[in-house]
This record gives sequence, structure tokens and C-alpha cells, in this order.
Amino acid sequence: MSRLKGKTAVVTGGGTGIGLGAAKRFVDEGAFVYLFGRRQEPLDAAVAQLGPSARAVRGSVTDLSDLDRLYAAVKAERGRVDVLFANAGTGAFAPLGEITVEHYDQIFDVNVKGLVFTVQKALPLMTKGSSIILTGSSTGVMGTPQFSIYSATKAAIRNLARSWAQDLRGTGIRVNVLSPGPTKTELALEVVGEEAFNALGSGTPIGRVGNPSETGAVAAFLASSDSSYMTGGEVFVDGGLAQV
Ligand SMILES: NC(=O)c1ccc[n+]([C@@H]2O[C@H](COP(=O)([O-])OP(=O)(O)OC[C@H]3O[C@@H](n4cnc5c(N)ncnc54)[C@H](OP(=O)(O)O)[C@@H]3O)[C@@H](O)[C@H]2O)c1
Repeated sequence: MSRLKGKTAVVTGGGTGIGLGAAKRFVDEGAFVYLFGRRQEPLDAAVAQLGPSARAVRGSVTDLSDLDRLYAAVKAERGRVDVLFANAGTGAFAPLGEITVEHYDQIFDVNVKGLVFTVQKALPLMTKGSSIILTGSSTGVMGTPQFSIYSATKAAIRNLARSWAQDLRGTGIRVNVLSPGPTKTELALEVVGEEAFNALGSGTPIGRVGNPSETGAVAAFLASSDSSYMTGGEVFVDGGLAQV
């Protein structure tokens, strides 16, 4: 398929995991992809893997000047953003009673504040037909022990998509949430631990954890005109975890 031929995509958190899975699929479908993240090493490895249709910009979504640098590079080299996958995220456990200000600030700063300005600063480069995809989570619609702050950031993202779909009326720019369930990535294995993570996968109706190629396939659908009548919505790629 070449649904994204000639399109320019930006993927935050694109050097690893779900972001890289989507970037790979975007390139396979004809897009040129900018990967954004803080660590040079995974970014370089990802670009080496993806080939000449990928380029990395190093920075943090929490630093507005880094975001300005990202979009200045995109503007100078490609002139536009057709697809924005605002996917960079972080998470950690803390039960009610042990939530610290640092825990709260760190997770809300990356997952919500970082995402808000990732999207807002891309807007001047977006036109009719552009697609914004926000990474949510199945936890955004569930109660998950010790995971309230992370889950609340994902619930916030769900509402940002609803409200932004209203703000974007008449522009031809769409915004949707892609909400993964347990997906095999660095972050998931580090935060949850391998054993508990695999048990979570076994507990889903599909009976296993997901792979970044599976979220990538859905991201490419949301990025393409195949989803042209979808905005303000949420698509779960969660093995059924939050659906039953
Ligand atoms: N895996 C799952 O089971 C699962 C389930 C539901 C939702 N999600 C969501 O999926 C998204 C991707 O996570 P993942 O599972 O693919 O884990 P991952 O491989 O660790 O990806 C997270 C990415 O975000 C980047 N990142 C983190 N903080 C950043 C910052 N301040 N600025 C720029 N980039 C930053 C990381 O790169 P650097 O560290 O180099 O910056 C990394 O590439 C997250 O939003 C996560 O909440 C994951």
C-alpha cells in the first residue's frame, strides 16, 4: 500500500516502541518521517533502520524551544506536516497516598503539556487533509491500581481530541486518539515488569500482548484518507482489554 505517498509525518517518541512501529509503517506506505525524542542513540538506530525517508531531531516535548527547532527543520525541508503522531509519553506507578509532586509533574508535563504544545506548534504547517493522532491508552477508560496519574493524563488526552475536533471545524484537519493496550515496548517492560506484563496480555480477550507493528497499522489507517470521516474519536488497539 502507498496511502501516504509524498506525505510528511512527524512522530514524537519515534525512536522506539509504538512510535517506531508507526514510523516504519508510515515509511513503508510512502511517507517521509521526522522522529523526535531526547536520546540520540535510539534515534540514530531508528534512522539507520528506516533509511533515507527518515530523519531525526533530538529534543524534549517539554521544552518549547526544542519543539520550535523541530518544526523549523520540517518547515525548511518539507514545508508542511501532513501527519502528526503525538506519541511521546512516560509513566510510573504510585498508589494514592504516595503520589509526589515530582511524580505528578513529570507525567503530566510530558503526556499532557508536552502533547498540547507538540500539536499547537505543528498547526501552522498543517492544511486540509492533515491528520493528528494522539497516543492515549486503554488505562484512560479504566481504573488501574497505582496508575491513577498516568491514567488521568490519558483521559485528559481523550478530551483534548474531542475539544480540538471542535476547534478544527472547517479546517479539514482531523484529530483522533489511538489507545494501545499492553504493547511490547521498553516503557511497558520497564514500568510493569516482564512477568506482570505478559500476564496482562494473557488476560485480554485476544490472549497476548500486542506488537508495535499492530499499533503502527492502525496509526497508518488514521493517518491516511481511509479514515477521512473520523475525527474526535478513539480507536483501541488493546486486544479487547478495555472493551469487555
Ligand atoms: N506499551 C504499552 O503497553 C502502552 C500502552 C498504552 C499506551 N502507551 C503509550 O504509548 C506511547 C509510546 O510508549 P511506548 O510504549 O512505545 O514506550 P517507549 O518505547 O519507551 O516510547 C516512549 C518514547 O517517548 C519518548 N519520550 C519520552 N519522554 C519524552 C520527552 N520528554 N520528549 C520527547 N520524547 C520523549 C522516548 O524517547 P526518549 O526517552 O529518547 O526521549 C521514547 O521514544 C506513550 O505515550 C505511552 O504512554 C503504551
